[in-house]
Amino acid sequence: ALSDNLQYVSDSIRVVPGFPKKGIMFQDITTLTRNPKAFKLCIEAFVERYKDQKIDVIAGVEARGFIFGPPLALALGVGFVPLRKPGKLPGETIGAEYQLEYGTDRIEMTVESITNGQNVLIIDDLVATGGTLGAAVQLVEKVGAKVHEAACVIELPELQGRAKLKATNVPLFVLLEKE
Ligand code: PRP
Repeated sequence: ALSDNLQYVSDSIRVVPGFPKKGIMFQDITTLTRNPKAFKLCIEAFVERYKDQKIDVIAGVEARGFIFGPPLALALGVGFVPLRKPGKLPGETIGAEYQLEYGTDRIEMTVESITNGQNVLIIDDLVATGGTLGAAVQLVEKVGAKVHEAACVIELPELQGRAKLKATNVPLFVLLEKE
């Protein structure tokens, strides 16, 4: 059973059936973030888990990893690195392709933004098929850093993202499981 705090966070997330496509039960985290109590409890849950874990840097996945990553980075006193959609980052970048729940995409990282040997926490709002997190792990590992863990607010267990991520040997931590 969830703690009262996580239950409150869970209840703050609006579910929108049929968005952005028929058959999708969209987990709308904007109703979480606009609720200051829910947003605070959510970030505090991550802080509690990672405060003594020697995280060097947080890498967040565009777009919604950009919402949860920075407040956690500030709380932990570490930097935030954006993993972005193609063509957005200047300088030398590396990329990884992945399959989405609906479509295909690619994320890119500035090569010099994470250095060899750093302990990296990857964060996003939600893990569905695990394709996005898998690509994020590839990017971070390509520059010789270690992925400490991948963290999400929501997991959709039916879509087996956890199994996909298991192949990378990176642990997955989520606050909430949703149908
Ligand atoms: C959603 C979500 C995750 C990803 C999860 O992002 O925010 O990043 O899909 O799906 P997966 O586990 O099957 O890869 P989306 O691609 O919709 O992009 P956005 O955050 O930019 O809207």
